[in-house]
Amino acid sequence: MKNVRKKIFVVLALAGALTIVGCSERREEAPAAPPATPAVTPAAVDMEAAESLFNQHCAACHPDGGNVMRPERNLSHANLMERGLGTPESLRDYLRDPGPGMPAFDANTISDEQGENLGHYILEKFQ
Ligand code: HEC
Repeated sequence: MKNVRKKIFVVLALAGALTIVGCSERREEAPAAPPATPAVTPAAVDMEAAESLFNQHCAACHPDGGNVMRPERNLSHANLMERGLGTPESLRDYLRDPGPGMPAFDANTISDEQGENLGHYILEKFQ
């Protein structure tokens, strides 16, 4: 009985060690890739309203998700993920305090909810 437990323990310990080795090897091969979260848009998000907000306030500088002033700061999904802007909330926050050259949008112009909806729209639209 004692031996069986010991064997089980050894097997589990080996499995654990292999898992750790497996993970660290994988990490060495593909460094620092942020997990790609699929853009899941809740049904409640009004995408049409978000689109017209985007056309009204953003499209002049970000046509088709690009960036006419600074092309490398475009709105492609991969780029936003890389820059920590891969969620609707982080995009809403960015509007309040953007990078140089982009006007800040306060809550009177774009509400928190509208900002998040805009975030959903951007993450889904510009792959
Ligand atoms: C007058 C031009 C202009 C307008 C209007 C504008 N942006 Fe920008 N946007 C920029 C510039 C310039 C940058 C790059 C800032 C930097 O260098 O960090 C930028 C960057 C961004 C980024 C970060 C992209 C990245 O890769 O870092 C997001 C997200 C963004 N804008 C969203 C919006 C949204 C949403 C709107 C509309 C509500 C908007 N922008 C309106 C000029 C503009």
